[in-house]
Amino acid sequence: MKFEETVKFIKEKVNNIPKIAIVLGSGLGSLADEIENKITISYKDIPNFPVSTVAGHKGELIFGTLENIPIIAMNGRFHYYEGYDLKDVTYPIRIFKLLGVETIILTNAAGGINLNFEKGDLMIIEDQLSFFAESVLRGPNMDEFGERFIDMSDVYTKEYIELLKPIMKKITGKCLTGVYAYMKGPTYETPAEIRALRTLGADAVGMSTVPEAVVARHSGLKCIGITCITNMAAGIMNEKLSHEDVKDTASKVESNFKKVIKELIKKIK
Ligand code: HPA
Repeated sequence: MKFEETVKFIKEKVNNIPKIAIVLGSGLGSLADEIENKITISYKDIPNFPVSTVAGHKGELIFGTLENIPIIAMNGRFHYYEGYDLKDVTYPIRIFKLLGVETIILTNAAGGINLNFEKGDLMIIEDQLSFFAESVLRGPNMDEFGERFIDMSDVYTKEYIELLKPIMKKITGKCLTGVYAYMKGPTYETPAEIRALRTLGADAVGMSTVPEAVVARHSGLKCIGITCITNMAAGIMNEKLSHEDVKDTASKVESNFKKVIKELIKKIK
């Protein structure tokens, strides 16, 4: 019922629903300005949609074209640390599925754990770790989306990872892949947590993306994840972490990040 009402509302406003949705993380917000033939809908106007609480965070769905390819951009996402239930954090992903989207591109900012990484790098997410968080699929299974027990060996679609590699190399001069570890936030991690995560096999750490990727997997959406390493994680450099620095690095990388996304959607359309 709830989902249906949201889907109906959107379909009344948008005639042709794109096959690709992009969740714009920190460092990609300005991609929204480059979308053409836009239909913009504020989250607050969409029935049953969660509303962004963070000052300065945008909250809108943009339907339009990028490089002449139809896309939906989610400008502003929901984080668990803001107080949302995980069901709300991932509500838009389920709506994308019901609208007929096939591929979801998740982008984010994260701290680098892999010592070969540098601030400003872009990393293709190959796999994820989320030991310390409750599963977004906890509770009665939503059979209309997927099965109770789901295979997680291919959360990030391998075919698209391979597609991305040469694009990354061409645009950034590097091709970094790795494991994204999810922490609930809102604190950055302690140096001990970072050492532990490195031992567990993580290359980067952040506070988003994993709940969305799990729901994408559950509902059979193809999924791509790209991380902007905005800082080296706690304890690696002799400096304190700050949201200002994270935003500053994200904005410096924005131009390459946008190029990567544009090339990618041309290949997956
Ligand atoms: N840790 C968690 N989330 C982050 C970080 C970090 O170091 N940088 C950007 N988002």
